[in-house]
Amino acid sequence: MTHVDVVVLGAGAAGMFAAMRAGQRGRRVLLLDHAEEPGKKILISGGGRCNFTNADCVPERFLSANPHFARSALARYTQHDFIALVRRHGIAFHEKTLGQLFCDGSARQIVAMLLAECHAAGVDLRVGHRVTDITRDDRFRIATDRGGFTADSLVLATGGLSIPKMGATGFAHDVAQRFGLAVTVLRPGLVPLTFPDKALELMRPLSGVALPAVARIGRTAFREAVLFTHRGLSGPAILQVSSYWQEGTALTLDLLPDADPTALLLAGKRARPRAEAKTVLAEFLPTRLAQAFAALHLPPRVMAEIGDAPLKTLGALLRAWQITPSGTEGYAKAEVTLGGVDTAGLSSQTLMAKDVPGLFVVGEAVDVTGWLGGYNFQWAWSSGWAAGEVA
Ligand code: FDA
Repeated sequence: MTHVDVVVLGAGAAGMFAAMRAGQRGRRVLLLDHAEEPGKKILISGGGRCNFTNADCVPERFLSANPHFARSALARYTQHDFIALVRRHGIAFHEKTLGQLFCDGSARQIVAMLLAECHAAGVDLRVGHRVTDITRDDRFRIATDRGGFTADSLVLATGGLSIPKMGATGFAHDVAQRFGLAVTVLRPGLVPLTFPDKALELMRPLSGVALPAVARIGRTAFREAVLFTHRGLSGPAILQVSSYWQEGTALTLDLLPDADPTALLLAGKRARPRAEAKTVLAEFLPTRLAQAFAALHLPPRVMAEIGDAPLKTLGALLRAWQITPSGTEGYAKAEVTLGGVDTAGLSSQTLMAKDVPGLFVVGEAVDVTGWLGGYNFQWAWSSGWAAGEVA
């Protein structure tokens, strides 16, 4: 058995960062992954350009059973620290919207940067290793299909359940549970929502239509694009709000957030009495959506022949369209896993298990989930760094 100071399991965003930091401190670090290539999720992220952090990252934009847990790690290694690292590596980037920072070139540059940092820190990266057993006596013993290793510290960084076809597993959750840590309820987050047949009759023909809207669940609202799909709704506003959605609860959409739809319809009736309702509606909604709403909610007459009452009803509907999703598109389409290793068992400063000295859990495996827009990578960097500082 080869002995090292630290074994990090999972060469994704959080694992590479934890390994890098521990290596920089002079620790002998072994970074193991079952995949043949490190950082596969980074490569597909942000449409291949990796939305690597958010310039406006604040702890309030993370979900967890303990909303304060992420605060400490996010403060120890901030988005500004990561941006400085990206600049040092000469990687060009831009802000797309809402503080979201993307590479100008390719996500490969971020993986190359992390690999270069790990290499400089002396990290021994080994891919294609399947872990077969983990035990602990005076040290951690990690058995793999390609040999065994012992370590004083073990960092679990194998991510969550999203995108199983890329090799995502509940491995970190299982190992954490074996060491006595609890795992909270898990569910897909940042995921398209599906709808029952009746709502789908309207949505399916609108597949591909997108518009700026406000999606709201309770007191949480996101103003971004909503996209109709053949299974329901997607687009950034829906992905964001999906993380707050609970089975059986309704979602409210404001399809015209910058205007008063009732006033627009009544003004349209006065200004264009001979126009069809769908034509008037299409002045402020995408044409296909205008046609569908007019067909469903107004009589097939010209505006002058439609009473004010149905126009007001449609106006109210466009302002607050209440629809109840039947579910989500699941882990196959989810960007993240909500829930994870219960933060109650972890130190918020170091991510070390309170009752298992030397065991750390970082990244998506922990019950901390960020908003869409670079927040989840920032959590991976920050939590990886916090663990790497002491592992
Ligand atoms: P991650 O999943 O990255 O890494 C886990 C590593 O562990 C992998 O290398 C895996 O192979 C390995 N592993 C798993 N099981 C193992 C086992 N049993 N043994 C050994 N190794 C094992 N976020 C963001 O902030 N900006 C963005 O642009 C995007 N875009 C995006 C697009 C898509 C399509 C998805 C699915 C997700 C995103 N995300 C994102 C979310 C982001 O990818 C995610 O939050 C981080 O990758 C989580 O980093 P981790 O290192 O925790 O896990």
